[in-house]
Amino acid sequence: MAEVTHSLDGRYYTDPKVFEIEQNGVLAETWQFAGHAATIPNAGDYFTFQLAGEDLFCIRGRDGDIQCFYNVCQHRAHQLVQGDGNAKVLVCPYHAWSYGLDGKLMAGPNIKSVRGFEKSEICLTSVKIENMHGFIFANLDPNAKPMEDWFPNVRDELAAHVPDIDRLKPVEWVEIPENCNWKVSIENYSECYHCTLNHPTFSTGVVKPETYDIQPQGYCLRHTTESQQLDNMSYPIDLNANEYAGVYSSWFLWPMFSFQVYPGNVLNTYHWRAIDADHVVVWRGWYSIDGAPSQVMKDLAKQDRETTVEEDIHLVESVQKGLKSRGYVPGPLVVDPACGVNSEHSILALQKWMREGVDR
Ligand code: FES
Ligand SMILES: [Fe+2]
Repeated sequence: MAEVTHSLDGRYYTDPKVFEIEQNGVLAETWQFAGHAATIPNAGDYFTFQLAGEDLFCIRGRDGDIQCFYNVCQHRAHQLVQGDGNAKVLVCPYHAWSYGLDGKLMAGPNIKSVRGFEKSEICLTSVKIENMHGFIFANLDPNAKPMEDWFPNVRDELAAHVPDIDRLKPVEWVEIPENCNWKVSIENYSECYHCTLNHPTFSTGVVKPETYDIQPQGYCLRHTTESQQLDNMSYPIDLNANEYAGVYSSWFLWPMFSFQVYPGNVLNTYHWRAIDADHVVVWRGWYSIDGAPSQVMKDLAKQDRETTVEEDIHLVESVQKGLKSRGYVPGPLVVDPACGVNSEHSILALQKWMREGVDR
């Protein structure tokens, strides 16, 4: 028998002070999804995003490489860019200092009148990024270890499971605001103890629930399962196409992203953004080769939004309310030493990382 471990205290999910600690710590020191490289194909293309309360942007340089910068002018701190777009140079809207696509200061009105002004010493502050098969991840910690250290083998496993991954482009993007703490949503994603009761499509469809398991692989939680009824799929698949054509699997990358692969090597993703202690936004991303219009992806995105996603919203929002209740005493996790679908060993792993993020 495993020792009893209790779930986290309610305050981890409800206290704004805990959220502030996370914003300055775990959310600023981990690899998080920024955006997809295919959305900025040309030199000067950029998109903005937020991480841990910081405004950032990714931009493609003249050499074709993507860089990420804090969205703040090095003169007197105005924002440089908004939304997404293309720029030949980055001109600050406040006093028109201009920066190259590499972040270096190029010019500014009357700066030559300042003796000793060293233009070459001024550059936008860059942020560390990694490109994983077109998915760009950013880490605000300049000393962050590479993603391979955090998530061993994930890059190679993805390439094997999705042979066309480097040609994929986002085609469907479903945004789901949830009234709950980000950790409630992440925990819900990371166990399937609730699946049989709450996800009828999931449990009676392709996945064979009794074979479902979730195991840590570094800071990745790897979901694996056997598939069944592959001839009942709502889209055609060629099981002989490659070794993983019949596989359903997912790779959750702590703290807020997941790659998911459906049979037929169909990639889709989850990513979360924490808004405050009580709000998180989840995006479901769907992809196709070269971004070709795809009815299959449209249908999958719609079906997923109407079933699994909808079912989960009600669960996580109810939990968030419960965590605020004076009547809630954190319950024991159901950790079965044999693991499997009806065990919360994955929550045990997750809550250890959550604790490390708060109790420093
Ligand atoms: S703040 Fe950007 S040019 Fe002054
Ligand atoms: Fe669920």
